[in-house]
Amino acid sequence: MRQLSGQVIIVTGASSGIGEETARRLVRGGAKVVIAARRADPLQALARELDPTGANVLAVVGDVTSPADREKLVAATLGKFGCIDGLVNNAGYGTRGPVEVVPIDAIRKNFETNFFSLIALTQLVLPHMRGRGDGCIVNIGSVAGKIARPLSSIYDSTKHALEAITDGLRGELKPFGIRVTLIRPGFIITEFIDAASRASDQYTDNAGPYAPYLDGFRVGYQKLRLIAGEPDDIAQLVERALTADNPAPRDSGPFHAKVFLFLKWILPDRMLGFIVRLRK
Ligand SMILES: NC(=O)c1ccc[n+]([C@@H]2O[C@H](COP(=O)([O-])OP(=O)(O)OC[C@H]3O[C@@H](n4cnc5c(N)ncnc54)[C@H](OP(=O)(O)O)[C@@H]3O)[C@@H](O)[C@H]2O)c1
Repeated sequence: MRQLSGQVIIVTGASSGIGEETARRLVRGGAKVVIAARRADPLQALARELDPTGANVLAVVGDVTSPADREKLVAATLGKFGCIDGLVNNAGYGTRGPVEVVPIDAIRKNFETNFFSLIALTQLVLPHMRGRGDGCIVNIGSVAGKIARPLSSIYDSTKHALEAITDGLRGELKPFGIRVTLIRPGFIITEFIDAASRASDQYTDNAGPYAPYLDGFRVGYQKLRLIAGEPDDIAQLVERALTADNPAPRDSGPFHAKVFLFLKWILPDRMLGFIVRLRK
C-alpha cells in the first residue's frame, strides 16, 4: 500500500464529472494535484476551492489534442512540483450516431481526444517515470470498451482501443516499475451526455432512416439514469489504483458495470446483441 499523501498526480478532464471528483478526492487524501481541461473558469474555480493557497493544486488550461498544450501540462507539473507520480488519463467525450451518417473526420476527432492524445500525453510522462523507476498510469476506459452498442459504436471503439493499448503498456512498463491500470465506469451522472449531444446533435438530428431508432436510444439512456452512479464511485477506484503496490489490471464500478461486464463474459454474442439491439 502506498501513501497518497505527497504524490504528484495529473488529472486530465478535471473541469467536470469524474475528473473533478477525482481531483477532490486526491486533494483530500493529501496529494498534490495538477488539474487540466479546456474550460478555464470551472477549472480555476475548482483549483481555488481545493486549495486557496495554490501550494498543492495547479490548474493548467489546455486541450489534450494540442501537442503544445500537452507539453505545457507536463512542463508546468515538473516546474511546480518537480516530479510526476501519477497520470490519470480521464479527458474524453462521446460521439453518437449511425456509422453511415457521422463524417469520418468527426470519428477521427473522437479518437484524437480519447485515444491518440492519451497515448501522446503518456509518452511525455514516461521518460520521467522510467528515470525514477516509479509511477502509475490510470486510464479511464468504459464498460463501452467491452460492449459496443448500435448508435454508440464510434465512442465505444475509442474505448475498445484503449483496452488494448493499456494491456500493452502494462506489460511494457512493468520492468521499469510503472504500474498501469484501466478503470471501466458504468453509467455515471456527469456532463457526459450534454457533451455527447453537443458533439453529435448535428448528425443525430439528420439521421434519416435511423431517426426513429435514435429516439429509442435516448429513451434507453433515460432508463439508465435509474441505475447511474456518482462520479465519486469512480474517483474511489482511481484512488485505490494510485495507492496499490500492484493495482488490478482492470477495475470497474459501480455495481451495474460489473453486472454488464459479467453478462458480456457469459453470454453468446448473439444474445448480447439482442439485449443492446436497436429499439424504436
Ligand atoms: N459518465 C459516464 O457515464 C462515463 C462512463 C464511462 C466512461 N466515462 C469516461 O469518463 C471520462 C470522464 O467523463 P465524464 O463522465 O466525467 O464527462 P464530463 O463531465 O463531460 O467530463 C469530461 C472532461 O473531459 C474534458 N475534455 C474533453 N475533451 C477535452 C479536450 N479535447 N482537451 C481537454 N479536456 C477535454 C472536459 O473538459 P473541457 O470541456 O473543459 O475541456 C471534461 O472535464 C471520459 O473519458 C468518459 O469517456 C464516462
